[in-house]
Amino acid sequence: MDFQARLEALTHQLQPWSPLWSRSILQGWPESGVAYPEEWLAYARSLDASGERLLDQGTLVGVPPPSLLALLNSLHALTALPWHEGLHALTVAETQGLSAKKRHELERVLALLAPRTRFVHEAVDIGGGMGHLARLCSRTFGWTFHSIDRDAALQDKGRRWLTRPHPPGGGTLGFVLATVEDGPQPQLDPLFSGRDRASIGLHTCGPLALTQLRKSQGAGFVLNVGCCYDKLEVPRDYPVSRFGKAHPLPLTPHALALTTRGRHHKTEVEFARMKQVYAWRFAFDLLSRRHFPERGFVRAGDAPRALYAGRFAAYARDRLVRLGLEPGMTDAELDAFEVSVRADTRDLLLCHLLRDRFARALEVVLLLDRAILLEESGFQVELLQLFDPRLSPRNLALIASRST
Ligand SMILES: C[S@@+](CC[C@H](N)C(=O)[O-])C[C@H]1O[C@@H](n2cnc3c(N)ncnc32)[C@H](O)[C@@H]1O
Repeated sequence: MDFQARLEALTHQLQPWSPLWSRSILQGWPESGVAYPEEWLAYARSLDASGERLLDQGTLVGVPPPSLLALLNSLHALTALPWHEGLHALTVAETQGLSAKKRHELERVLALLAPRTRFVHEAVDIGGGMGHLARLCSRTFGWTFHSIDRDAALQDKGRRWLTRPHPPGGGTLGFVLATVEDGPQPQLDPLFSGRDRASIGLHTCGPLALTQLRKSQGAGFVLNVGCCYDKLEVPRDYPVSRFGKAHPLPLTPHALALTTRGRHHKTEVEFARMKQVYAWRFAFDLLSRRHFPERGFVRAGDAPRALYAGRFAAYARDRLVRLGLEPGMTDAELDAFEVSVRADTRDLLLCHLLRDRFARALEVVLLLDRAILLEESGFQVELLQLFDPRLSPRNLALIASRST
């Protein structure tokens, strides 16, 4: 894939819409809503519940505004990435006690590694947690594997797995208790260096992915799956490639938070639950602004799930007590307030559904920038969809190898 052309095209599409994706809708309401073209909002308001759900999946029913249709078609094409096909089936004994998500990830990663790492003898996993991948790789491929993590308790649990009966043979696995950081780390850095070494990082949070890429310049093979992009800092962590620096997008903390929201199709129940959570949150925000304008934007926080399924008054009272606020309203008045702001809370929902259309595109921008960084340092790079997004939504894998 021509990563540079893809990044340039995506940047070109996304740039004009930065007022939508770079700001929080709720914190800037109602001014934030002005960034949304009136014909987009009129179209979204015309949707029934099933149309809203389809919009959440990126499908436009009826007669959508041409500008919205063109944008979504273009983002759809530019975020399409090839899939890694195949899995390495694990036995019941190998996966006992693992979640369906973890098993799925391991089966996909092992299948991806097998044909690409024939020259590898040693490997390191950055943020390896309990060392499941390390254990399976050392047994499957015979590698000497170093699983680095800063969490001693996780590694202790992993050591217990090693005592379980398993077939003879395979390589060796060692746990390294350490915090991986940018800059020289004489104890750790040699683990990442050597043409027969693989450097692996699965769901490396925020900037840890970049630390891995920087440490792995001398590795023969690199696999990285990122996550928690909201922990990145701009400009430190984006753009990181020379080409990306020449084509930057104005990513804000709100835009980075949006990149972690790219979700595959929600079920009907999940979508209904999301709408209910939004409805109470948005109404609560409007209530607190009306009665406590001096407090500015108030973070309602996550309430117990049952409160979203009940009356607004019960939810609002719980949040008010937590925040130490007292509007002097009865439950009936709180419920009546919620009803009175429904036009606003629906518009807030619709703006969120529209803004979420940018989430995957922004995530792909971050990964294209990283892919180009690896190319700029001489690697051959692939960017593939590796995991089923219903199980593991941060499913994009960067794969880099040195030509031998
Ligand atoms: C999201 S978990 C991923 C664990 C595992 N790779 C997986 O895919 O299941 C991130 C792991 O990275 C570890 N971690 C985070 N920052 C780290 C750092 N700077 N150095 C070492 N380990 C780190 C955490 O303790 C945690 O176990």
